[in-house]
Amino acid sequence: MRTALRFPLAISGLAAMLIAAPFSAYADLAKGKELFSQRCSMCHGESGAGDGPVAASLPPDIKPRNLQLAEMKFATDDAKLTQLLKNGGGGVGLNPLMPPQPDLNDADLASVISFVHTLKK
Ligand code: HEC
Repeated sequence: MRTALRFPLAISGLAAMLIAAPFSAYADLAKGKELFSQRCSMCHGESGAGDGPVAASLPPDIKPRNLQLAEMKFATDDAKLTQLLKNGGGGVGLNPLMPPQPDLNDADLASVISFVHTLKK
């Protein structure tokens, strides 16, 4: 009886680990912060408020998203955030001024995304 109960629990625990793995297994927050600083902060701002130095020179109706509010039009989960970063805004129906990051590998993307989550207030 006991084993019968424990077995499904072990299975669901394993399933949860497998689902979480692509985004948590190799996400490195320090690396994510560094990449964000190099590749995102000029538009989104160091603290993610959407107030980086380049933001002011973009057309008034195209503003880098305030990542502290995290009100995403498209990138509502990690899989979509990955898609956005791989393909850029233009690849997912957003403004192409949001640039793609084709040279970042999956681990780097996971790291940037985990850092983006820490910006949320
Ligand atoms: C050249 C300026 C610029 C850079 C650099 C930039 N972005 Fe953006 N980003 C934008 C703009 C503009 C938008 C808004 C696009 C829109 O609303 O159509 C945006 C939107 C977003 C969104 C919101 C997506 C949604 O679904 O609403 C996220 C998340 C994001 N950027 C993350 C990043 C990350 C992470 C980086 C660095 C890897 C980055 N951006 C680099 C300009 C930039």
